[in-house]
Amino acid sequence: MNYKRPKGTADILPNETKKWQFVEKTAKKVLDAYRFNEIRTPLFESFDLFSRGVGETSDIVSKEMYDFYDKGKRHIALRPEGTASIVRAYVENKLYGPEHGKPLKVYYNGPMFRYERPQSGRMRQFHQLGVEVFGSRNPETDVETMALAMDLFRAFGLKQLTLVVNSLGDVETRKAYREALIAFLEPHFENLSKDSQERLHKNPLRVLDSKDKKDQEIVKDAPSILDYLTEESASHFEKVKAMMDDLEIPYTIDHRMVRGLDYYTDTIFEIMSDAPGFGALTTICAGGRYNGLVEEVGGPETPGFGFAFGLERLLMTLDAENIEIPDESPLDVYVVGIGSSTSAETFKVVQALRQQGITAEKDFMNRKPKAQFKTADKLKARVVMTLGEDELKEGTISFKAMATGKQTKINLADIYTDNFKNQFVQELAVLTADEK
Ligand code: HAM
Repeated sequence: MNYKRPKGTADILPNETKKWQFVEKTAKKVLDAYRFNEIRTPLFESFDLFSRGVGETSDIVSKEMYDFYDKGKRHIALRPEGTASIVRAYVENKLYGPEHGKPLKVYYNGPMFRYERPQSGRMRQFHQLGVEVFGSRNPETDVETMALAMDLFRAFGLKQLTLVVNSLGDVETRKAYREALIAFLEPHFENLSKDSQERLHKNPLRVLDSKDKKDQEIVKDAPSILDYLTEESASHFEKVKAMMDDLEIPYTIDHRMVRGLDYYTDTIFEIMSDAPGFGALTTICAGGRYNGLVEEVGGPETPGFGFAFGLERLLMTLDAENIEIPDESPLDVYVVGIGSSTSAETFKVVQALRQQGITAEKDFMNRKPKAQFKTADKLKARVVMTLGEDELKEGTISFKAMATGKQTKINLADIYTDNFKNQFVQELAVLTADEK
């Protein structure tokens, strides 16, 4: 029997996980600086949470849910995104209480599931790192959160990014705009794609981001939602833009940008990569404000703002920009044993080094010394310690700094003392002094 991974999923292999760990570690540093705390919620929730939260007319709910009935006949869905789950946790655990502070700033990182047609950068199981901020209506929160997104990508080393911003206004805005948009599109009904014809009355805003060429031609002249913002929403958006200018965060405005999830109000944004050679799917991060969602899910009226980026897409972008991932766990020492009588001792040495927090490796395949030295090179060991039969007899081990090729001998007994780490650092510093 030949087992294969399910369509649209990926194995993340040992030579790739270093990149994931780099992203996660770097992200944590930036998130710490912005004072976000991690939240972890289940990978599955009740189906209704998503149909209510994300919206029944969204593609995610109408076409892409991984849902099933469990043995207790509960309608369950694997989470297609993070926001609805986090809002559910916020309400269920009463995170709006004063002891939790305001605004509440959380982040999450993990797998999401959407039954999509798999293609490059579009998977059925993918990973998102996202943040949500609860309790602040202040436009400063919009700007802080978008600045965080840009800072994250900068910390990963990305340069070729565009931040695109729009406002969807409040409920009143969208009611007025919806009517105007339907009135504009109706005379073009016959020329719209089938999808857009279906959406025209259910969710007309989605016609604006149709991928169909003819639709795109038609919506070019569509009215702009920005002309329909209520006074309050217009003033909110003006403040957001002014603060972005003040903080010198570059952005462009696209009044036709809408989102595939139904919960957004006021500010929405996407971050795209302009890296050459990167295919059609260039949106790596998306988010915005959702002032009605907490109430929709059964909580007190609470504004929210957040975003998520796809880790797979981010890693593709890092590749497209040729960004080198630093090796976060270099090998300090490779211990070479010459002669079979040394193998018990080399094992002891490696274990003692590891106990001191020095990363160490040795041969476990009975390789000849030449092959062991080759492995040490391949693993980019900073130091090679070599133990021959003569050294073993005299109680020493050779210590070679690979950066300079300089070597010395140290006492084997030193390795077993509690403060060997200090000695290790000093020996290495002496042998590599010329390098600096
Ligand atoms: P979204 O636009 O559906 O938003 O997804 C955000 C990001 O997740 C996308 O820009 C993309 O990088 C990644 N992504 C989405 N679907 C796939 C897929 N099938 N394969 C690979 N990557 C994918 C949300 O999910 C919102 N919850 C974001 C948010 C948080 N808004 C407010 N708070």
